[in-house]
Amino acid sequence: MATMSFLCRAAAFSLRASRSNAVRAYSAGGQYQHLLVEKKGEQKNVGFIQLNRPKALNALCDALMKELGQALDLFVDDPTVGAIVLTGSEKAFAAGADIKEMEKKTFQDCYTENFLSHWNCVATAQKPVIAAVNGYALGGGCELAMMCDIIYAGEKAQFGQPEILLGTIPGAGGTQRLTKAVGKSLAMEMVLTGDRISAQEAKAAGLVSKVYPVAQVVEEAIKCGEKIASNSKLITAMAKEAVNGAFELTLAEGNRLEKHLFHSTFSTNDRKEGMSAFLEKRKANFTDQ
Ligand code: COA
Repeated sequence: MATMSFLCRAAAFSLRASRSNAVRAYSAGGQYQHLLVEKKGEQKNVGFIQLNRPKALNALCDALMKELGQALDLFVDDPTVGAIVLTGSEKAFAAGADIKEMEKKTFQDCYTENFLSHWNCVATAQKPVIAAVNGYALGGGCELAMMCDIIYAGEKAQFGQPEILLGTIPGAGGTQRLTKAVGKSLAMEMVLTGDRISAQEAKAAGLVSKVYPVAQVVEEAIKCGEKIASNSKLITAMAKEAVNGAFELTLAEGNRLEKHLFHSTFSTNDRKEGMSAFLEKRKANFTDQ
């Protein structure tokens, strides 16, 4: 079953690639109100999305999140892009869901529109997404960073789930992803008190993988994206799927998924090319096939 579903996803992967060849084109963010969007890296193979709502500290209003979904889709569909970097400003990655928008919502509104469910497009993007976090990553901002695959933090970044102070709780995965990342005691403390943790504490707790000076974090995230983009996009998607399995499956199921995906790599040209290139002492030339 898992192999079948992989084959379906692989077909979808190449279908999307050809669709994007035909119709997708975008310029440096001209069509977005709340985002700056461009391609970065020497080979222009890293999709770069900057949240750009400075007056509201990048509060994640509905319009911004819809744009983010569109920008991610374009990069996922773009065969020249191998990884995506998501960042905010030096002051705020994002200060949470938009409280001005939320204030008037009723339970009926939230339930009927399945409020915040569409944010999940960040977690389900097939290409790796790296969050480069400076400043505040609070509430939905912290949840957004945690939906990404890798988090790099600037040394003044602050992470927190302060929803309890507003009389609500995290609603975009915060109670689940934070607990898996930092363990029960720290997650409970953050969710129940609303206290923030520093970049250094986040690193020690396993929430972020690297901490850099404020001015370097975006550049380092792009470098990481370039490294990822230099590998086979097809195999990278399989590796991402396998690691994500660890968050949802039992150890036995996860190991089975990994084995299916591992075995599936042997049906690809890129696995053959990677091993041949190693033995011939040359750089691999991956074709994403
Ligand atoms: N939603 C909507 N607007 C927000 C916001 C949010 N989550 N966070 C900040 N803003 C707005 C403020 O209302 C303010 O707008 P105004 O100038 O129209 O009043 C502007 O951004 C600047 O925020 P301000 O509070 O004045 O900045 P600060 O530097 O004093 O404090 C924070 C920064 C991040 C500590 C503070 O803004 C804050 O606590 N924000 C809410 C964080 C939160 O609870 N997030 C979870 C939401 S579920």
